[in-house]
Amino acid sequence: MNRQKIVAGNWKMNTTLAQANELVTKIVSHACGFNQVKAIIFPPFPFITEVKKMIGDEKTISVGAQNCHTHSSGAYTGEVSAGMLHSVGCQYVLIGHSERRNYFKEKNSDLVLKIKEVLANKLQPILCVGETFEERKAENHFKVIIEQLTSVLSQFSITEFSQFIIAYEPVWAIGTGETASNEQAQEIHAFIRSIITDIYDSAIANNISILYGGSCNAQNAKELFQCPDIDGGLIGGASLKADDFCQIIGSF
Ligand code: PGA
Repeated sequence: MNRQKIVAGNWKMNTTLAQANELVTKIVSHACGFNQVKAIIFPPFPFITEVKKMIGDEKTISVGAQNCHTHSSGAYTGEVSAGMLHSVGCQYVLIGHSERRNYFKEKNSDLVLKIKEVLANKLQPILCVGETFEERKAENHFKVIIEQLTSVLSQFSITEFSQFIIAYEPVWAIGTGETASNEQAQEIHAFIRSIITDIYDSAIANNISILYGGSCNAQNAKELFQCPDIDGGLIGGASLKADDFCQIIGSF
């Protein structure tokens, strides 16, 4: 088993250009310690080109986008296409983050269209799934994860799926300071791998990186990353502090 270890920093709608500069400069200066781990930075759209330049030829760090549109071009004022992202050096796109699902009403069918665009432009999607607090309380979390995954994965061949990264992000843990326990996270990650085995096969299930997200920080990352089915993290708040982000990358 040789899964890629990944730590991704989702900056959301934070930073100015000056702050982005400072953050990336610090992260790059620590990159010699990122052995075997791929770091991916997801800055806001306007800073992608600049962040990419600052990273230069540092191979351990890549840049991604937090979203893209379902269409490749046209009269969609305010939107950004996957082709545009590719043209400025992005390699990854977050798809279906719970904030997109919740505030922007993105449905699983929208995510399918977005991922088709992502793959057509030779980018890799990080598909986010996760249950709300109410869904977990009602013990519906397994059902929610199955629905979110199967409705999207059923639209992609095994070759297409080989480009995916999955992020399990329980909504109740995002930005709340409340992290899923190691047992809760490992249980869902193993469950996600079993769903992938059912849809495709065990070889691909064992090769896909599955990241944990939701109040993952420099203190709890080590224990979470020791779980057998957790291949890294999708980090929000703690990715805005260079020292914390780099410590998380060093937590494997
Ligand atoms: P958080 O966010 O680390 O601030 O909880 C994670 C995410 O939304 O990806």
